[in-house]
Amino acid sequence: MAGKAKKKVKIEVEKNQDPQEEAVVMMPQDEEGPEVGIEDLPGVGPATAEKLREAGFDELLALAVMSPADLADQAEIGEAVASKIIAASKKMANIGGFVSGGALLERRREVQKLSSKVQSIDDLLGGGFETQALVEVYGAFGSGKTQIGHQLAVNCTLPLESGGLDGDVFYIDTEDTFRPERITQMARGLDLDPDQVLSRIHVARAYNSAHQMLLVDEIKRMSKGLDVKMIIVDSLTSHFRAEFIGRGMLANRQQKLNKHLKELKQLADINNALVLVTNQVHSKPDAMWGDPTKPIGGHVLAHASTFRLYLRKAKAGRRIARLVDSPNLPDGECVYNVTQEGLRD
Ligand code: GTP
Ligand code: MG
Repeated sequence: MAGKAKKKVKIEVEKNQDPQEEAVVMMPQDEEGPEVGIEDLPGVGPATAEKLREAGFDELLALAVMSPADLADQAEIGEAVASKIIAASKKMANIGGFVSGGALLERRREVQKLSSKVQSIDDLLGGGFETQALVEVYGAFGSGKTQIGHQLAVNCTLPLESGGLDGDVFYIDTEDTFRPERITQMARGLDLDPDQVLSRIHVARAYNSAHQMLLVDEIKRMSKGLDVKMIIVDSLTSHFRAEFIGRGMLANRQQKLNKHLKELKQLADINNALVLVTNQVHSKPDAMWGDPTKPIGGHVLAHASTFRLYLRKAKAGRRIARLVDSPNLPDGECVYNVTQEGLRD
């Protein structure tokens, strides 16, 4: 049994050559005791295991956080079987257990930082955009949200010593604003081969909110052969906002959005990757004080994001980014420029 479990983990981490990353693929609870995989679940034979893997589930944590109906649907198995698999995964992955502060610190040590290549932004974020985090970038139209997405996608392909994550990027484009030409410009701005950069950025156009959510499953599936280090959803909220109109639809919308965000955060945790979502603001011209713009998505999004960056235009074409609600950094602002070569100090 123990031998089998060990063998399984080896298969799981095959794509990661960096030994430092092996620990990341494993769940926090794997740090103590023997490692277990999906084949070790009671009642899961080779055929079911194959189905689960086909659907992109190769870790206990990924199974433990599913609902029976969704798992049954995605893995094409019966709901009763799905229910049993989830219950067993929860037990074996020890999701409900508490881990020591030391174990958490250990996991935090795996956090990597992606440089924006703009000193003032990196400083604001304590060194760059952290992995295992969900970052929300919000602001009015034209404030530069998509520009940040493009720039970070390029930077993500850089080697670690240059501030990158040496990884692949998944870009969910809901507004048809992804531009390979812009990636080319920004790659040249960093003396990179544009074709090589473009080959590591995987783009999908999401046609509606349901499609947008399905694309997360597709990333799970495709991530097996790739080293996914960043997932961008630009924009997270536009489809949801357009489709769920009126007060009566609000609860439904927030529920869907919540589910979507959880699945994205799960991708960030499992791959030690960064998730960046953009969000529009709705203007509140009747606001009596403070900034008359607030991000869409309400509490659901506020709670799901680890960091929030509020962008706005400043004088002479400059941009301001404000850090809001960080768990471990002071709120603050920085100024930068959007140039032909990309974001610059
Ligand atoms: P919405 O998606 O409409 O809400 O806006 P956004 O926040 O995503 O804005 P986006 O990132 O698309 O910013 C667009 C702005 O970036 C433009 O108005 C330009 O000011 C700037 N920009 C885009 N491309 C270039 C470029 O090649 N050179 C320069 N100098 N600026 C650019
Ligand atoms: Mg945009």
